[in-house]
Amino acid sequence: MGYTGESMSLYEEIRSRVRNNMKESRFIHSEGVAEMASYLSGRFLSDPEMGRIAGIFHDYCRYMDDEALLSVCSGLDDIVPEEREKPMLLHGAAAGLAFRELYPTFGNEYYLAMRHHTLGSIHMGKLGACVYIADYAEKGRKHLDDADRRRILSHSTLEEMVLDILYREREYRNSLGERMAGVSTELLEFLEKGGRF
Ligand SMILES: [Fe+2]
Ligand SMILES: [Fe+2]
Repeated sequence: MGYTGESMSLYEEIRSRVRNNMKESRFIHSEGVAEMASYLSGRFLSDPEMGRIAGIFHDYCRYMDDEALLSVCSGLDDIVPEEREKPMLLHGAAAGLAFRELYPTFGNEYYLAMRHHTLGSIHMGKLGACVYIADYAEKGRKHLDDADRRRILSHSTLEEMVLDILYREREYRNSLGERMAGVSTELLEFLEKGGRF
């Protein structure tokens, strides 16, 4: 894969930090996300390392309780109503903040990618799209089959892949009698109009 010894050891350090912060099944999911996000960032950002790193870390704070998540995220000015109502949805924002503090040399795109991985956002960036898609479609996910997975990945742009997922998500929410989050709907409409990350 062309890793230098140095970058490998940093990735290993990040990976073991993540592993120590969650149960095994969540770690296996995180590895699946890292793998697919790495594939996507290699394809669309010419840098497989970016997706691998953002992907392995995205659920780092998945086990923080609501009170801790609200406290850690209290300085954010972009919390949406759905996140206030269900603070678990802030686990990505908390992961982004933790990552920024632990690894300050990485750019803001890592923060944004982690912060928006659950609901999606027009602000999530290309790296965010890689993580969002991978979080939805990594090989361990059981809510889609291999044909669905292949179809999502067969699109030629990140925007089309995210739109495919958002349509599925909207349908799923509707089937439960729920509505998709406002930021997700905003993203869907942005992409339908040809918006780019
Ligand atoms: Fe997550
Ligand atoms: Fe996840």
